[in-house]
Amino acid sequence: MTGQLPPIDIAKHAAAKAASALVETGMKVGLGTGSTAAFLVKCIGERIASEGLDITGVATSTATAKLATDVGIKITTLDEARWLDLTIDGADEYDADFNLIKGGGGALLQEKIVATASDRMVVIADATKKVDTLGAFPLPVEVLGFGMKTTQMLLEEMLEGLDVMGNRAVPRMKGEALFVTDEGNHILDLHVGRIGNARQLALVLNQVPGVVENGLFIDICDLIITGHGDGSVETRDINSGDQTKSGPELAEHDNVFADISE
Ligand code: 5RP
Repeated sequence: MTGQLPPIDIAKHAAAKAASALVETGMKVGLGTGSTAAFLVKCIGERIASEGLDITGVATSTATAKLATDVGIKITTLDEARWLDLTIDGADEYDADFNLIKGGGGALLQEKIVATASDRMVVIADATKKVDTLGAFPLPVEVLGFGMKTTQMLLEEMLEGLDVMGNRAVPRMKGEALFVTDEGNHILDLHVGRIGNARQLALVLNQVPGVVENGLFIDICDLIITGHGDGSVETRDINSGDQTKSGPELAEHDNVFADISE
């Protein structure tokens, strides 16, 4: 079951492990989606097995719900939980003001609903996700299938008048077919290059008919935990302004998760 983790996974695991320490018995916890969030789910599963941590999770995708169940996390619906103590999730990009691009894994809609329904949202990420200006990562927008080509055209026209560097809205594919989200919708990835005003863009995108939600998370994230390839982590809290550094703890670590399938 052993094998060395590559530096990128050491970084993701370090951030996930640090975030898992924020989880306390009795909490209702939003569980994100993606490879970094998968490390988190496994770290929480380890704590359940080793110390009897007792939490209830709300998953942001069917993939996360399955993994969480596999590692022993009780899963409920957001309707049942209503409000969460904490959500921990990955990100595709984050800036110095804690604005995020999310949705690379196609789960942005549930992720945004769950994160917004939480007292605190923590982002876990490797250092490559930190950017000066959002937008190099194509911005995912979840759209209805009905009239999708019209929605695409309207989005491209609208982007021409905004502070961005590109306006192509590209349908996300899975093989030969359109990618389908957990809600049965599709994704248009906006190749905007650079987002001059993320707050404005987040607001206006949702005005276009057919748009269900966009992947800009503004004023949602409270804490960012950044992992590095040497196993060290940095945390930044937007509310207190606190910054900490710790580690490395896992630089020479075996892949303790090799026996749990992704
Ligand atoms: C899924 C997401 C993910 O959080 C984002 O894509 C980051 O994923 P990873 O941790 O695999 O880099 O938004 O919709």
